[in-house]
Amino acid sequence: MNDSAFAILIVDDEPNIRSGLQRGLTDEAELIDTAQDAEEALSKIRQRAYPLIIADVRLPSAMSGLELVEQVLRIRPQTTAIVITAHGTVETAVEAMRLGAFDFITKPVDLDLIRQQVRKARKHHELLRENRQLRDQLANAGEVTGIIGNCSSMQNLLRQIRQVAATDATVMIQGESGTGKELVARALHDLSHRSEAPFVAVNLGALPETLLESELFGHEKGAFTGASRQKPGCFEQAHGGSLFLDEITEIPAKCQVDLLRVLETGKYCRIGGETLLQSDVRLISATNKNAQSEIDEHHFREDLYYRLNIVPIEIPPLRHRREDIPLLIEHFMEHFCKRHGRENKLVSTEAMQALCSARWPGNVRQLRNVVERLVVTVNSDTVHLDDIPAELSGNAKSPGKSPLPKTLVEAVEEAERDCIAQALSACEYHRERTAKALGISVRTLHYKMNRYELH
Ligand SMILES: Nc1ncnc2c1ncn2[C@@H]1O[C@H](COP(=O)(O)OP(=O)(O)OP(=O)(O)O)[C@@H](O)[C@H]1O
Ligand SMILES: [Mg+2]
Repeated sequence: MNDSAFAILIVDDEPNIRSGLQRGLTDEAELIDTAQDAEEALSKIRQRAYPLIIADVRLPSAMSGLELVEQVLRIRPQTTAIVITAHGTVETAVEAMRLGAFDFITKPVDLDLIRQQVRKARKHHELLRENRQLRDQLANAGEVTGIIGNCSSMQNLLRQIRQVAATDATVMIQGESGTGKELVARALHDLSHRSEAPFVAVNLGALPETLLESELFGHEKGAFTGASRQKPGCFEQAHGGSLFLDEITEIPAKCQVDLLRVLETGKYCRIGGETLLQSDVRLISATNKNAQSEIDEHHFREDLYYRLNIVPIEIPPLRHRREDIPLLIEHFMEHFCKRHGRENKLVSTEAMQALCSARWPGNVRQLRNVVERLVVTVNSDTVHLDDIPAELSGNAKSPGKSPLPKTLVEAVEEAERDCIAQALSACEYHRERTAKALGISVRTLHYKMNRYELH
């Protein structure tokens, strides 16, 4: 019998109840054992794990059923316990639940009812087991890098990161918004011999051309109006460490030329200065655009691209590695439950299925936000299908809703509308980010939002 088998131990001094339950529950478990008192029960429990024990509260032995439950939960905390109490002894039932029993049954025993309770207990046990398995996997997954992913493409990625980190090679990371580009960049730094020196990240899409130059290369005092003192740029700040150039394809044309020169000569000057400074950084760049099409459209210089793209690293979108979703959920669940001071929650099978089949246009970032929201808003210890935001689970539209077949145009429009709605919600209605995630311009996004009334 393997670990996943569901075994029940029935503890009751009345032979009729023991045999009656054993017979009545045969279909509910792979193995059903019985014991007539607490001592016999304990000796059996020491020999093997019973995920479920059903115990009469009143036992002839020195130890009562309640004490037995208490002991069992101490020896095997993963056990689920159901206690049988005589009719009307509510206090005992309450006490049993307080000790950690999962459920209680009153005598006379109603077989149908107890079958339902056993099924519920079994489901709970299975969720606990899955949860434990995920945790074990997690313990191995994120060491050092914090990058969670067990699927083969992520394992390859991790291998590649370890390999490349050991070198000084220039790396370009491509991947949709929220796939973890910055996380990967940090991992490259943390695993490298430069890890003691600074990791400096600069978002090239966020700064106007005039500021960007000084941000990258620094300036001398009086280099321009407002330059009241000398300021080191990112290259200088990251000296000896790693420089992360985020949204590299957004860099203005003039800066592209300057950057290219630094890459070619390894030297640069602060703005307004003449001293040649030696660059000593490992360059990591990232983009969520398709770099090739940016080149084709003349937004991005091909020669710069080749200089930066010595080692390309591509992070697949979350929808292409759905098998990692449960692991990521467990990871974020643990993280946010701790942060918000909550007990760790389980995720029901149906809810997990919905989460695993959602489209996730905002990738891991969106998943992270959804899990945080669930941690904060769900009060029970288990996340159920109802708790999943409609825009995620709503993907699986109830069949039979539209009796007439849709035209292709209608179907495409509906899919487009859903996709944009999901992306908007994932990006918290941040227009630029949503447009980026969808790979369209902000103008196109506005137009489509108006058209589909997505405000
Ligand atoms: N594989 C992963 N394991 C654990 N956390 C992850 C993973 N991928 C992404 N994250 C988390 O998701 C969030 C988004 O990641 P990150 O900022 O690195 O994405 P990005 O690709 O840089 O996105 P953008 O293009 O929008 O800047 C972060 O909180 C990050 O820690
Ligand atoms: Mg980023």
